[in-house]
Amino acid sequence: MSLTGERVMITGATGFLGGALANRLLDDGAQVRLLARSPQKAGRLAGRGADIIEGDLANSEAAKRAADGCAIVFHAAAATSGSLAEQRATTVDGTRAVFEAAADAGVKRFVHVSTISAYGYLYRGDVTEDRHLAHSADPYVNTKREAEEVVRDTAKKHGIAYSIIRPGQIYGPRSGLWTGQLFRLARLNPTPFPGDGSGSIHAIFVDDVVEMMVTLATHPAAENETFNCSADPTPTWREFLQGYSRLAGHQNWLALPVSLFHVVAGLSILLAPRDTMLRDLPDLLDLLQSRTTFKTTKAQERLGWSPKIDLEEGIHRCEPWLREKGLLR
Ligand SMILES: NC(=O)c1ccc[n+]([C@@H]2O[C@H](COP(=O)([O-])OP(=O)(O)OC[C@H]3O[C@@H](n4cnc5c(N)ncnc54)[C@H](OP(=O)(O)O)[C@@H]3O)[C@@H](O)[C@H]2O)c1
Repeated sequence: MSLTGERVMITGATGFLGGALANRLLDDGAQVRLLARSPQKAGRLAGRGADIIEGDLANSEAAKRAADGCAIVFHAAAATSGSLAEQRATTVDGTRAVFEAAADAGVKRFVHVSTISAYGYLYRGDVTEDRHLAHSADPYVNTKREAEEVVRDTAKKHGIAYSIIRPGQIYGPRSGLWTGQLFRLARLNPTPFPGDGSGSIHAIFVDDVVEMMVTLATHPAAENETFNCSADPTPTWREFLQGYSRLAGHQNWLALPVSLFHVVAGLSILLAPRDTMLRDLPDLLDLLQSRTTFKTTKAQERLGWSPKIDLEEGIHRCEPWLREKGLLR
């Protein structure tokens, strides 16, 4: 699928996923317009031909200027940390402002980036898109769930088509967390981890996520639908981390006693402030040890999408960036 010649708006392009999408669409010859609160951070994309509209997500005038004349809006910006009130202002109110601007512009489709975290941390086994989204102590879980509700409500109110993508852990060059931080952990020799690492990680290479986003923008079967975008079947944490540790030249694993982490997690329920992820530590710890798969059968059958980059290739593609950052020598 390609958006060559189409005018598209992207939020979050100064971040990891939105930046990868912007580069892909510029490569495809789309006319790319970005809503960015820090134009300096968008300088590289401006140099490649992207239009930059300066503004916070909640600035509806800036959002309207950014959406004007666009056929598609890709909404990737969100808060990934901060208090519940802070995350709600960005992730929920910001989504409303951007979708209202998209509706004013009469876009053909609003592509919204959600997350598998919106399911919360309680599901195990196979998780399909029809499962209920969770209420949780974690502001990220709650605000990403609420943002999906805003998308569905606003779409209905204005009669604008939407598609929602729920990615797993996105890794690849420029991923600060799932590549940068996890490589730092994996290069420790031996690599310390709670338990034997046999639970699932739902890792998906960034280019596969971008490919699904581009597909969602135009595919008739994606209209008003939601899709998981995750590894299926999943690798284990050990397989994933040892992909990185292989780059660092070792394969040694240090299984830390899970019971110790359960004690800390139990204390966090008693001592941690309300509305923080710390309250969810026991569930998160359990999820880390479990085999859980966010199924992608729906995307495979209806959209013909499937991940193209397996774990070995994905880790291989991270290597130049890890060297450039001085993390791998
Ligand atoms: N990374 C993952 O593994 C993962 C997995 C599942 C879902 N997701 C979802 O994917 C999306 C992108 O995540 P990411 O990893 O690319 O995050 P990221 O690198 O932290 O990027 C977040 C982007 O949102 C922008 N932003 C935040 N608050 C804003 C505001 N108030 N006004 C305007 N822009 C604002 C940031 O702008 P600044 O550069 O100015 O801060 C940045 O461009 C998010 O919706 C996230 O929930 C990510």
